[in-house]
Order: sequence, then C-alpha cells, then structure tokens
Amino acid sequence: MSSAPVQPAPVDLADALAQVQAEIDRRFDLLLAVPDDARARLYQAMRHAAIGGGKRLRPLLVFATAQLFDVDRDQAGRAATALEAIHVYSLVHDDLPAMDDDDLRHGKATAHKAFDEATAILAGDCLHALAFEVLADPATHPDPAVRAELIADLARASGPAGMAGGQMMDLAAESETFDLGTVTRLQQLKTGALICAAVEAGAILGRVAPDARTPLRGYAHDLGLAFQIVDDLMDVEGNEELAGKKLRKDEAAGKETFVSLLGVERARAQSRMLVDQAIAHLRHFGAEADLLRAIARFVIERDR
Ligand code: IPE
Ligand code: IPE
Ligand code: MG
Ligand code: MG
Ligand code: MG
Repeated sequence: MSSAPVQPAPVDLADALAQVQAEIDRRFDLLLAVPDDARARLYQAMRHAAIGGGKRLRPLLVFATAQLFDVDRDQAGRAATALEAIHVYSLVHDDLPAMDDDDLRHGKATAHKAFDEATAILAGDCLHALAFEVLADPATHPDPAVRAELIADLARASGPAGMAGGQMMDLAAESETFDLGTVTRLQQLKTGALICAAVEAGAILGRVAPDARTPLRGYAHDLGLAFQIVDDLMDVEGNEELAGKKLRKDEAAGKETFVSLLGVERARAQSRMLVDQAIAHLRHFGAEADLLRAIARFVIERDR
C-alpha cells in the first residue's frame, strides 16, 4: 500500500467517510482471507462482522489526527484498522444473548444469528487479537517504541480501565441507580476510551510528546461523551432502518443513561455543548484540523 504522507483530507465529510469505509473494508478483506480448512467458518464470521459495516468513525479519527502531523498514510491505515477491529469485536460481544441480545447490526443479522453463539464469541476473540497483531507488525512503524506505545494505549482503552470496564458498568446500570457523575464515567469508559485511543494513535504515530497532546485529548474526551449521548438519544427517537440496529432497548432494559436522567431536551443540549467544547480544544490548530471539527459536528447530526 502507498507510503506517501497522509494528504490534507477533503473537508467534505461524506467523501472522507466513504474513502475510509472503502479502505477499511479493503484492509479487512486482505487480512481475513478464508482458509480451506475447519477454521473457514470462524473467518467467515469475522468477515461478516468486520466488512461492509459501520460508519468507521474511529478509523476516520485516526486519519484526521494523523494528517495533522504528516503521518505516513499506510501506517495510519494500519492503526485505524486495529482500532476498528477492537470496535467490531466489542459490538459482536455486545450483541450476544448474554449481553444485549440483539439480532440486527449494521443492517444485517448479528454474528451469533448469522452463525452461532460459540462462533461469534471466537470471532470476537480473534478480532481482538488481530488488532494487536496488526499494531505489533513492523509495517505499522519502524520504531518498536512507537509500536509498543500504540499497543499499550489500545490495550488500556480496551480493558477494565476502558471499554470492557464500561460494559460492566453498563450491565450494572440495568439494576442500580446511577447518578450523573457515575453515568458520565460509564460512558467515558464504554465509548469514550476507544474514541480517545483513536485520536491518541494518530498523535503517537505523529510522535507528538505526551504533554503536547492535551488539546487533542480534550477534544477526544468531549467528543466521546457527546457520541454516546447521541447513541442514547437515537435509542429513544431514532429510526431503526437508518440505524441498522434495534432501538428502544435502553428504557425497556431499565438502563440508566443521560437520556433517562436528563430527559431528551437536556441530553441533546448537553451533547451540543460537549461538541462546541470539543471544537474549542482545537483553537490552536488551523485549517488542517477542519476534518476533526467536521467529525465533531457530524457526531450530533448523525442519524445512524
Ligand atoms: C455503536 O458505535 C456502539 C457504541 C459504542 C455507542 P458506532 O455507532 O460507532 O458503531 P457503527 O458505526 O455502527 O460501527
Ligand atoms: C455498546 O453500547 C458499546 C460497546 C460495544 C462498547 P450499546 O449497547 O449502547 O451500543 P448499541 O446501541 O448496541 O450499538
Ligand atoms: Mg450494550
Ligand atoms: Mg448494544
Ligand atoms: Mg446504544
């Protein structure tokens, strides 16, 4: 794949999303060639979950951050694929009967419906492993210290101090009453951590010193919270066909969310405030950060 610097992206967000969607599909297609043996079903389940899927927001965040620092496009593409592999694995497991018990994802049958539960669990496990295999490959960055930092940050964001920890709190939110501070923490872990890791990966590849990453971390933090509030709003008032997944699940499960605590109007106001705040963190960047700004606006305007 090409190894020219990431070009300044078109600020046409639809175009940027379409480009990234095609690239991530192509990368998963290459990574997941189906072997001619008894593992074929496992690879097919991974392909079902990973290809032709979602918005690819986390990969786009990797590219949009990487382009601020002239990162090589192939390196950014590899980190973007790793982020998305973790995201897709988290959705495969989130949809399982033991968790949200959903039949529809990305407009098609969930992995355990299209295959079976055991295969879906293994497909999730393998997508999780794939993310770290991709990052550990010298093609991701020639400096092993950079690769180790990418791996460590994504591992932290995926585990009990990140996504999986947030999923645990989310399960507890069905039976416990959480206050706004606890729900904020839950959302920050469940959804915010991987969004932060996507932005961080772009900065790590760009060799930005940790203390110079503060504005980008502020942006990602606020964006992640806004993103999950909109997911919760969509659950209440979204269109299932557009969203490609079953909605009206949170209230039925008795789940505490920003919307259950604040109501629709105040939750929406909160998501807008967070997006304004996210964009404000980028004030020291020029036009090169316009794609990050456009992503922030998209997060509250989206219908899927
Ligand atoms: C859905 O994330 C699950 C959450 C973390 C809220 P996305 O909206 O990014 O999922 P895609 O785009 O359908 O993959
Ligand atoms: C899922 O959150 C978050 C992760 C997979 C980490 P939700 O359960 O709210 O996501 P949807 O609504 O099923 O996409
Ligand atoms: Mg869930
Ligand atoms: Mg779910
Ligand atoms: Mg949801």
